[in-house]
Amino acid sequence: MSFSEKYQNIYNTVSEDIERVKKEVLLELKNSFELTSDLEQLFNSPSKHIRAALSLLYLKANNIEADENQIKFQAIIELIHNGSLIHDDIIDNSDIRRNHTTLNASHGNHLSVIAGDLVLSFALKKIAELNSGTVLKLVSDTITRMCEGEIHQYYSKYKIPTEKEYITKTYNKTGTLFETAIKGAAILSGNTDNIKNAELFGKYFGIAFQIRDDIKNIENNQPDSDIKNGIYTAAVIYSNNPDNPSEGIEKAKALLDNYVRKAENTISDIKKNKYKSAIIELLELINHE
Ligand code: IPE
Ligand code: MG
Repeated sequence: MSFSEKYQNIYNTVSEDIERVKKEVLLELKNSFELTSDLEQLFNSPSKHIRAALSLLYLKANNIEADENQIKFQAIIELIHNGSLIHDDIIDNSDIRRNHTTLNASHGNHLSVIAGDLVLSFALKKIAELNSGTVLKLVSDTITRMCEGEIHQYYSKYKIPTEKEYITKTYNKTGTLFETAIKGAAILSGNTDNIKNAELFGKYFGIAFQIRDDIKNIENNQPDSDIKNGIYTAAVIYSNNPDNPSEGIEKAKALLDNYVRKAENTISDIKKNKYKSAIIELLELINHE
């Protein structure tokens, strides 16, 4: 079975709730003026919805059903994620996203900057609907950290970071949104004794997810790779040579395994059920495929 087939099986355990999240997002996109069909295409193209899937699995593993506010919150996370991808494709000069031409490739950077802002404004509107200062603070801090990660990455181009610097950047740029997806879900469920664990689970999962993405970027040898753009990730740190990252791949995989195990440890108290098993399968998938 391929990654996407295995992922599909995991996704299917929460697909009904993810459909609710997707519907909630698509409802907002109707307000996108002339950009509506472009944005609908982006959001309708194959995407893992992994932040929503993971959060919904986490809730269900803890025996909590997603109510309207939970669905709304995951829609907010998806909107922030997609808004950041629109901007990311401008930053990285990418032409293809989810098998389609990116907005920056078809309309140029000017309109794509606005499109990313527009999608973010939809997220803000939804946050207001949740009527929670706690959630507002959580989400605004998250966006700040995501920006911090990208800003740091820009200023660190063509420099080999320390492992600690790499992890901090990875947490800011990617881990924080996973952390917030799960932590917000835990806060909204009112299950307060679990919040620290929820937060750590999301954080470690998100860091692992990005380490994997960085390893794949090097292994796939893409023409517009991180290394060519001066972005030096785990394998380069360990090989200490941007021209020969393959010597660092094994250690990068060990770092990935380390974060997968950390994530796994935070859910050790959850009693065995099919949703917890799906989370463990997902962790293994991230670690080994
Ligand atoms: C891509 O995110 C950017 C990273 C954080 C690596 P995803 O891999 O979640 O992208 P989609 O939503 O499935 O397209
Ligand atoms: Mg990028």
